[in-house]
Amino acid sequence: MPSFGPLRVFLIFLAIQLAVAQTTLQNPKTIPSQIPNHDAILLGTDWYPEQWPESRWEEDLRLMEAAHIKVVRIAEFAWSRMEPSEGHYDFDWLGRAIAAANKHHIAVVLGTPTAAPPAWLTQAHPETLRVEEDGRRATHGNRAHGNASSQVYRQYCRQIAGQMARRFGKNPNVVGWQIDNEYGYALMSYDDATRKAFQEWLGKKYRTLDNLNARWTTSYWSQTYDSWSEIPIPVGPHNPGLMLEWKRFVTDTWNDYQNNQIEVIREFAEPRQFITGNLMGFFDGFDHYVISEPLTFVAWDDYVGSGHLDPAKNGLSHDLTRGFKQSNFWVIETQPGAVNWAGINNFLNEGEVRAMAWQAIAHGADEVGYWQWRSALNGQEQYHGTLLGADGTPVPLYEEVKQIGQEFASAQEALRGTTVVSQVALLNSYDSRWAIQFQKHNEKYDYVALLKSYYRPLYKLAQAIDVVSPYASLSNYKLVVAPDLNVLPKELADHLLDYVRAGGHLVLGPRSGMKDQFNSLLPQRQPGYLVDELGARVEQYYALDEDFPVSGEWGTGTVSTWAEQLEELTPGSKVLMRYGKSNGWLNGQPAVITRAYGKGRITYVGAILDDNLMTTAAEWMIRESGVRAPFATVPDGVEVSRRTGEGKDVFVLINFSAQTRRLTLPHPTRLLLTNRTSSVVELSPYGVEVLQVEP
Ligand code: GAL
Repeated sequence: MPSFGPLRVFLIFLAIQLAVAQTTLQNPKTIPSQIPNHDAILLGTDWYPEQWPESRWEEDLRLMEAAHIKVVRIAEFAWSRMEPSEGHYDFDWLGRAIAAANKHHIAVVLGTPTAAPPAWLTQAHPETLRVEEDGRRATHGNRAHGNASSQVYRQYCRQIAGQMARRFGKNPNVVGWQIDNEYGYALMSYDDATRKAFQEWLGKKYRTLDNLNARWTTSYWSQTYDSWSEIPIPVGPHNPGLMLEWKRFVTDTWNDYQNNQIEVIREFAEPRQFITGNLMGFFDGFDHYVISEPLTFVAWDDYVGSGHLDPAKNGLSHDLTRGFKQSNFWVIETQPGAVNWAGINNFLNEGEVRAMAWQAIAHGADEVGYWQWRSALNGQEQYHGTLLGADGTPVPLYEEVKQIGQEFASAQEALRGTTVVSQVALLNSYDSRWAIQFQKHNEKYDYVALLKSYYRPLYKLAQAIDVVSPYASLSNYKLVVAPDLNVLPKELADHLLDYVRAGGHLVLGPRSGMKDQFNSLLPQRQPGYLVDELGARVEQYYALDEDFPVSGEWGTGTVSTWAEQLEELTPGSKVLMRYGKSNGWLNGQPAVITRAYGKGRITYVGAILDDNLMTTAAEWMIRESGVRAPFATVPDGVEVSRRTGEGKDVFVLINFSAQTRRLTLPHPTRLLLTNRTSSVVELSPYGVEVLQVEP
């Protein structure tokens, strides 16, 4: 069993207090995802009263209340029940469902039903159905079949959202709204009207065709456009400039689509009602920083699918989501054991659902909601995990979820007003991700996997990481890592250099600084506008079909998938790692270079390093940047996270290993889940404890 020496812990606890004092100051006083007059953290479920006789609702709500469920999201697919025929609205049943929930102290989030337009609408107005890439119209009966760019469809969406808000915008038991459902997976329509809208959008952005032709280098392959109407929607590989703009157009389309509903809801809803949207973690259909902007806070749907929880991947996804608005968030959907859409829909192990729920809270979630309460007797998702069986009585997992509810209730006051504060940021850029995906150059190159390879060892050492847009304010971070900043225009380079000049440490990964905002190659070597400050450049990049050796200050190991041959340009830059004997070109050449610049430092890592090297690299980055972890080193497999607020410091410990782990604390500490004060914490596999530490 790994040792956890009390003296060491005590010293680190002292260090914590300093770090806490430094980092709590920036905490907001109110957190939009914590609802006034409600528990600060909430257990929820997704309930479909429209699928059941009203006589059944009371029993459902009784069982929810018994499980400490405090919030339900409803109505997000109930358009045909709310508007059975055009212009005829029936909200009485929904009003009764909201009132019944209230009797059980369960608050309601209303979803707008626009992911499931009714048959009377799609049949009367076929242009409201999406046209697929191959030119065929979507058929009715699945969801996300609406055409997000159709003005006719938008009009109907506005009507139903407006009618709902008129009716429930002042309902005391409706705490907020969800727009649509997962934004139709960003699916677009390939009809003529959408194409025209894209062309007009380009016209506004580029103003002249000469400008567009120059930015996209359309003299290549005779792509020159003489009229806006000639520009296609890209299907399959196309001009990289066109492809990147299409993604931005998709983003703007879905943003307009949601704003159309947000505007009308805001017209009628009381300001206390929040507006959110359920995003999907690393889904890359649109730029999430743009989509998150008009929302009060973001929510996401956290599904494991096949296999079991990968704490680093899931933690990274939570931190990504928290970074969309740099604020706490909700997990408005998560799996009660199993899903129905994966290759193998295995059930999570006993205890794993609880560990997953607490991991969400630890990373800044203020609600965890189980999709779904009970399966509809028919419909496409009969096999999905639920909390009740088809017979309407609890399944075995219900008890575990009930325990989560009890624990949330006992820890919620300690967590009120708290959030995650980090000294380390990972930069995530949709432009860069898309640009790389369009031309991977090595099919094994995986943007998210590369982010995760940095996140895993850095999280262990820093115990908190923010994942933010490269354009976010960086001044609070001691270390900023951009694993893959392929698109790096001048303005962004200046922003990063300001950070470094002021004392920050910027670490860039491979492929950084190669493209401008039009997805054109920069007429400089990588990292483009940062070459002078780094005092080094990339001579050549290589897609690898085999691993190559590398060694230096971070130890000895291998690189795979991608390697760049670096060159020092000034004596001030220092080579940290060099390739060993490999393809000849790389033999003995620099793989990692660092240079002090301004009051800070820039480091360029030109290859994808193996896991062991990433660990030592992370140790070096943390040391070099002066990052201090808020808690002591914990045994392998235990994740420690902190939420902090004014006068509050709460640590969540989760054991993701297969063995029991024991931690000795320097002094007796309040343990919220076992409701005692002790200096010993014992965590069985999937065990969780929440520590309330006096700051
Ligand atoms: C989500 C969706 C839910 C449900 C769930 C099943 O993506 O929002 O409505 O289908 O998947 O896992």
